[in-house]
Amino acid sequence: METQTAQDHTEFSNPNLEKMFDAEEISTRVKELGKQITEDYKGKDLVLVGVLKGSAVFMTDLMREIDLPMEIDFMAVASYKDGTVSTGDVEIIKDLMKPIRGKDVIIAEDIIDTGLTLTHLVDLLETRGPNSIKIATLLDKPEPRINKELKVDYRGFTIPNRFVVGYGLDVGGRFRNLPFIGVVKDPSLL
Ligand code: IMP
Ligand code: MG
Repeated sequence: METQTAQDHTEFSNPNLEKMFDAEEISTRVKELGKQITEDYKGKDLVLVGVLKGSAVFMTDLMREIDLPMEIDFMAVASYKDGTVSTGDVEIIKDLMKPIRGKDVIIAEDIIDTGLTLTHLVDLLETRGPNSIKIATLLDKPEPRINKELKVDYRGFTIPNRFVVGYGLDVGGRFRNLPFIGVVKDPSLL
């Protein structure tokens, strides 16, 4: 009989991960969101803006469920924390490549936690004269929300206040490639 070793699993079958949503559940929900956006944005000038890097997986799946003429663009931001508490200061690391004046913008996010990153992003993009700005997030973690006013227009799943990885979400850069979303059971084993 073979002995069990620490290497006896792959990244995707890592026993330190507890599955929250599998690939099929995510796909079903993303299809529903895409269908809703397709209905809501008929005749509009849609630009889907992905917030790198976390939203890349969600955004590229979502865009293939939007059956409309549309464009995509990307931003990268760094949110600064004072210890573990978000300060709300957001630095633009990478800006959009094209103006959004007159456009109907949907910002695609992986997860909304305190909401401060998106609050700043929406405020910034508002100054550029878009026709509208809405928010699509795969995951919504409402418990730690600081900006309670932030309106989430399209939401994949509402989740409890736990740190999740996979499907674009990372811990220290790892696990973005997981096809499912899960919770790291014991962070000290990473
Ligand atoms: P907020 O400004 O607190 O809403 O920050 C949202 C950002 O924090 C997300 O775009 C993620 O990059 C990161 N984040 C928040 N919660 C999680 C989590 O559970 N897993 C991975 N990243 C997270
Ligand atoms: Mg992010």
